[in-house]
Amino acid sequence: MLEIAPIQQALNWRYATKQFDPAGKLAEDDLAGLLDAARLSASSFGLQPWKFVVVREPALRAKLRGSAWNQPQVTDASHLVVLCRPETLTVDDVARFIDRLEAERGMKPGDAGPFKQMLSGFVERLSDGERKTWMDRQVYIALGTLLTAAALRGIDACPMEGFDPGQFDELLDLKRDGLHAVVLCALGRRSASDGYARLKKVRYSAEEVVLNR
Ligand SMILES: Cc1cc2nc3c(=O)[nH]c(=O)nc-3n(C[C@H](O)[C@H](O)[C@H](O)COP(=O)(O)O)c2cc1C
Repeated sequence: MLEIAPIQQALNWRYATKQFDPAGKLAEDDLAGLLDAARLSASSFGLQPWKFVVVREPALRAKLRGSAWNQPQVTDASHLVVLCRPETLTVDDVARFIDRLEAERGMKPGDAGPFKQMLSGFVERLSDGERKTWMDRQVYIALGTLLTAAALRGIDACPMEGFDPGQFDELLDLKRDGLHAVVLCALGRRSASDGYARLKKVRYSAEEVVLNR
């Protein structure tokens, strides 16, 4: 395991990159590793209500930029990842997860029945809006993992909420897969001319942020 110091160093090194070097391409292995880190994220009950869409097509990225406040990261970063959630969450999703859990853990079908009932009840009790908000929150955990993993690997990233999710859904034809765009993450290499890299990080101190009881 890593010591704390290199983790702190990586998190101090990272910043929300505004200007990427368009020539700074990531190795596919690195990209796959970062997406795997996101895939391994914690989620409430382990339900993993997310998909990660990697947009590689330059023409498509140019169109998306127009729906993302014209932010240059959308086109200039090595890769653009759109973190998505399912449009809906149903008891069928719970059933699929429980089937996987029983198979992975060598349980007999039905062994996780009480857990399944509890999860189904949880999902059914939420309103449609609450279900969506709950899924969004899980997607943000995956975003956090992705950002941290990128920092540890020395890869630049910009998390981005400045976009129109409805337009992204359309341009990426996400409905076809029953998905909705939640948040973006541009990944690549910082441009030497990105002045944001030299700005001091602004964070409240540990004394201000951490409380003990
Ligand atoms: C969820 C989220 C959405 C963000 N959206 C954008 C964005 O659309 N464009 C952008 O340039 N930065 C965006 N940021 C970056 C923040 O402005 C940045 O993380 C914050 O100012 C702290 O600076 P640092 O990350 O460089 O340390 C976003 C950050 C988060 C966590």
